[in-house]
Amino acid sequence: LPPHTEMRDGLPVVDLATSPLPAGPPVLANMERARTYGPAYFQRFGGFDVLFAGGLDLVTELADEQRFTKFVGPALVNVREFAGDGLFTAFNDEPNWAKAHDLLMPAFALGSMRRYHPVMLRVAHRLLDTWDRRAAAGTPVDVADDMTRMTLDTIGLAGFGFDFGSFDSDRPHPFVGAMVRCLTWAMTKTGRKPDVDYGEVDEAFRADADYLASVVDEVIAARTAVPQPEADDLLGLMLSARHPSDGTTLDKANIRNQVITFLIAGHETTSGTLAFALYFLSQHPEVLHRVQREVDELWGDVADPEPTYEDVGRLRYTRQVLNETLRLWPAAPGFGRQALKDTVIGDGVRMRAGQPALVSVPMLHRDPVWGDNPDLFDPSRFDPEAEAARSPHAFKPFGTGERACIGRQFALHEATMLLGMLAHRYRLIDHARYQLTIKQTLTIKPDGFTLNLIPRTPGE
Ligand code: HEM
Repeated sequence: LPPHTEMRDGLPVVDLATSPLPAGPPVLANMERARTYGPAYFQRFGGFDVLFAGGLDLVTELADEQRFTKFVGPALVNVREFAGDGLFTAFNDEPNWAKAHDLLMPAFALGSMRRYHPVMLRVAHRLLDTWDRRAAAGTPVDVADDMTRMTLDTIGLAGFGFDFGSFDSDRPHPFVGAMVRCLTWAMTKTGRKPDVDYGEVDEAFRADADYLASVVDEVIAARTAVPQPEADDLLGLMLSARHPSDGTTLDKANIRNQVITFLIAGHETTSGTLAFALYFLSQHPEVLHRVQREVDELWGDVADPEPTYEDVGRLRYTRQVLNETLRLWPAAPGFGRQALKDTVIGDGVRMRAGQPALVSVPMLHRDPVWGDNPDLFDPSRFDPEAEAARSPHAFKPFGTGERACIGRQFALHEATMLLGMLAHRYRLIDHARYQLTIKQTLTIKPDGFTLNLIPRTPGE
């Protein structure tokens, strides 16, 4: 430990006032801190001590729903400025959380993916058409941008029957820029300095938030303008499903908050995950080769396979590649927990009721339980036997407990199918000898990652 480190219940205390986080993505700064101070330490912030936890033992305790629950921390409170009491940012005791959760859960059961599958496939073809043209012209693709096009169009169409048409334009849909700026505003607002005037920054944020709200209105209007039979997609459920306990539907303001929540949560993290996965595949030819063997076994030398719903379940190794990607660079790199009552965790660390803890997911995913070389990309860590032998708390890319990600199956179905189709169709050429750089806007993505594509002959 650095000299003069203050201790609290046996853990180091790092005061942000005297030891501010270095510039750059907070996720990396926090990982660096954990390497200096250990997998558990307190970060003092405005006189308040937040427990940072990146080790399996503490996270296992924090996942105990009898003692801890989700903490809507300062950054998420800022996100509430534009997502209100939507599922992701709702406080635990807001009645609208439980109500929306109950009403929307059926749309995310595993069986529902069968219904989304054709739409996911349709959007995947938009991406392939675009990449085919780039491959033919020999121009590189901006991986994260195109993954964002694909995932935004997918959640728009699958969830809301709304077409963002992202591939029709050279520029990403303006929803994406406004969303990224709003998320960045929410993230950076927590570190504001008292002597700086943020008036203009806040005004720009307001304009972006208003624009997001106008897109939501457009999405809802497109559905309600023409009378139509009740659709059973997300928007249909939001507009018409009645809660069994009291027979009421979601209220108007809450529906808007849910639409914006799902448009953001439904695409931003999946696109980052896919971009990281392609990065890893481009760096690990032996892994790419195994993915290619897997898809070749399914689709042989068919030039334009149309994966079925069942095919996606058969892409087991491809799914392992995604899990290993989510282990090393979990797109949502942290989540907050809070003590439900006064309690003691770890070796005598006292937590008062309401006191927050932040789980560092990238550090948890590098806990010694992952072996001697946790930074190595190795999808065999997710072989079924290896998984069965490991604590279920060692891998938490989708959060934990009842506030865990509702869209997990949606994300994994979409991403597994796409990754399989891309590996089947292209050789991935790292023409710029890319050095991984992380960009963070609450969630993380590889920054400036481009690939050249060469059409592949299946079986090669
Ligand atoms: C919650 C990660 C994809 C919708 C969460 C949480 C995490 C997460 C870590 C918990 C946050 C917390 O505890 O504060 C991810 C990752 C994804 C992904 C890594 C992709 C790889 C999706 C998709 C959707 C979605 C595709 C929707 C279609 C949500 C919602 C919540 C949530 C609504 C809040 C749930 C609640 O509190 O009731 N996600 N997510 N996510 N996610 Fe995801």
